[in-house]
Amino acid sequence: MAKVTFLPANVTYEFDLETLPYQEHGKPKSFLDIAQNNGFHLEHACGGNCACTTCHVVVKQGEEFLSELEDDEADKLDMAADLQVGSRLGCQVHFVRDGEVVVEIPSWNRNYVSEGGGSMNLGDAIPVAKK
Ligand code: FES
Repeated sequence: MAKVTFLPANVTYEFDLETLPYQEHGKPKSFLDIAQNNGFHLEHACGGNCACTTCHVVVKQGEEFLSELEDDEADKLDMAADLQVGSRLGCQVHFVRDGEVVVEIPSWNRNYVSEGGGSMNLGDAIPVAKK
């Protein structure tokens, strides 16, 4: 079995890598795919096509169970805000074998969405003054 915990929500999903249904967003078995399978919100302005950085997550534990950083993901990550050790794109990095992984969603991303601001990259952001 594979297991992922999203921080700071501290929500954990456990699943069988062989039977996880692909949800058409990002790479199969990616964090975005897992989030979509479970109704967990992970921002993905480009639809999981490695064309933005809104799915930025930071791997805190279990990197050895995940795919290696590929060139297109690395190129896009270079443009990500708050880049840090363990930074990956949630739609590109994917499980390659069973294990337990912990990832954190950077605060600049989660705070904006949780406050009802919508996605800035999708053009539906609500200016703070109008809330
Ligand atoms: S959703 Fe755009 S790069 Fe991952």
